[in-house]
Formats: sequence, C-alpha cells, structure tokens
Amino acid sequence: MKKVLIDCDPGIDDALALALAAGSRDALDVVGITTVGGNVDLPLTTTNALALREFLDLGDVPVTPGSAGALLRHTVRAADVHGATGLGSVVLPAPVRGPSEGHAVDFIVDTLRAAPGEITLVAVGPLTNLALAVRKEPRVAEWARDLVIMGGSYTRGNHSPAAEFNMLADPEAAAIVFDAGWTVKMLGLDVTLSAVATSSVLDRMRPLGRLAELLVPGVQSYKAVTVDGGPAIHDACAVAYVLDPSLFACVPAAVDVETAGLYTRGMTVTNFVVGERRANALVATSLDVRRFWDLVVGAYEGLAARLG
Ligand code: RIB
Ligand code: CA
Repeated sequence: MKKVLIDCDPGIDDALALALAAGSRDALDVVGITTVGGNVDLPLTTTNALALREFLDLGDVPVTPGSAGALLRHTVRAADVHGATGLGSVVLPAPVRGPSEGHAVDFIVDTLRAAPGEITLVAVGPLTNLALAVRKEPRVAEWARDLVIMGGSYTRGNHSPAAEFNMLADPEAAAIVFDAGWTVKMLGLDVTLSAVATSSVLDRMRPLGRLAELLVPGVQSYKAVTVDGGPAIHDACAVAYVLDPSLFACVPAAVDVETAGLYTRGMTVTNFVVGERRANALVATSLDVRRFWDLVVGAYEGLAARLG
C-alpha cells in the first residue's frame, strides 16, 4: 500500500486523477488532498476537491486549501479549458463537509515530518504549495518518499508554445521545486498528450453508473482536445505512475525552469546529457497507452461497483 498526498487544482483531469486514486484503494492510501489556485481560482478548486471527496467515497481524507496564486507574477488560469466552475459541464452534489483548518503548506510539512520516507507527493497543479513547503522546511525533500508531478515538457508547451500550464502558472515555484534536492518524476506533455480519452475509451466509461456522471460529461466538456480527437487526461498519468511506474519509460535529466524569457517563461529546459550536472529529474519519455487505459478503466470499474 503506497501513501500519497495529492496537491491539485480540480480541474477535469485532476478529478479523473482523484477518481483513479479512489478506485485504487487496495494499492493507494490517500493521506491528504491539498488545493492550489490554477485551472480556476482557489475557492473553486477547493470546493471541487471537497465535492469530489464525497462523490468518490474518499471518506475522511483531509482537504486543505493552499495558495491562491503564484509566488511572484500575475495569475494564469484555464477556465477556457475546464469551464467556469473548473469541472466543465459536470455538476456534483454540493459538499456537505468543509475543508480542514490551516494551510496546505503546513499540512504538507507536518504530514511528511510525521511519516518520513513513507509518503509520495503527487502534484498535478501549479507547484506553489510545494515550493513554499520546501522553503519553510527544506527537509521536506528528504522526508518525501517520492515526488511525482504532472507538468513540464521537453518537446512543446500547451498554454504557450514553450511552456506547459502548471509550470507557466508559477515558474518561480517550479524552479524552487526542481532545485530542492529530490529527484522529480516529471510526467510532462511528452507522455500525457498520448493519454487521450478517445471515443472507445469513453464508451468503456459509459456503463459505470453514478461514476459515469462525472467521467462522461467531464471528458466531453474538457476542451483539452488533441489531434486524436479526444482530450488528454494529463493528471491521471501522475497517479498511474505511482500505481505502476512500468507504464512509462523514463530518462534521467537535469531540468531548469525558465523564469525570465519573454517567449519561454515556464519552459522546463531539459538536459538529458547529465554529465557533470546531477540529474534532478527522471523524465517520462513514453507511455504504454493500452496498459494505461486498462489500469485506469479497471480502477473506475471497481469504484463504480462501490458507488452504484
Ligand atoms: O497542462 C496540463 C495541466 O494543466 C493539468 O494539470 C491540467 O489540470 C492543468 O492544470
Ligand atoms: Ca491539474
């Protein structure tokens, strides 16, 4: 059983990543969810996380809100992709229970301090909370069992030609995280753009009862459509990596985050020729798409059996 703490900005693909985690409770123990401003503003990402906790039967997992915006520059959002609420056309029952007291940064530091070497951080939004956590307590980078992010790219951007959204939303935070001393498992657009919810994948989701009320309209209203005709479910790749790293081929690299470039701000400049520099990242370069969707849909089927 792997313990995970998921930092997110729900977000349609964040929601499908949380559903994957909820459907994998034989393998994953979600010890906490923290939220950050990203796809939409923090109040909405937090409300969405609270609603998803109840809809996905995640029980008493604490949901703790964090940073509303980036460390330094103006706020970047993606409501054009995820809709005004952040969940596209999906309407979930309003959450009954509210968030935990306190700030996500303190939750991350305190939770990792209490269980050194046991908890994998999974970050699928801008890295503001994680950057503040490592600034507050640098030993977070030692205490974390692992750090897996959906973010970055060594080939192309999405929110700009050079930068992937999570990195562009807070480049300074990303630079701090990549420089914190851990080896970042970077699931970038290079692999996540192949995690496409095609029409045949969508057909496998349709019979899943109540869960289909999230999955199907979520996929259909997710404006991250790719050339393959369906949206890429980026964030589910990060949870899938924790569940089965063999789904991905990964290569060590030295990654720097551009913070000053007029056209390249937020770019993850990835040097696979590590040589004299220490590799600060393990960068995913390919994904076994068939096995990925078999894992994801299998977890959804198990969750659907619980939800009815
Ligand atoms: O670039 C894709 C990432 O940006 C995903 O995490 C999506 O939710 C958005 O936050
Ligand atoms: Ca996200």
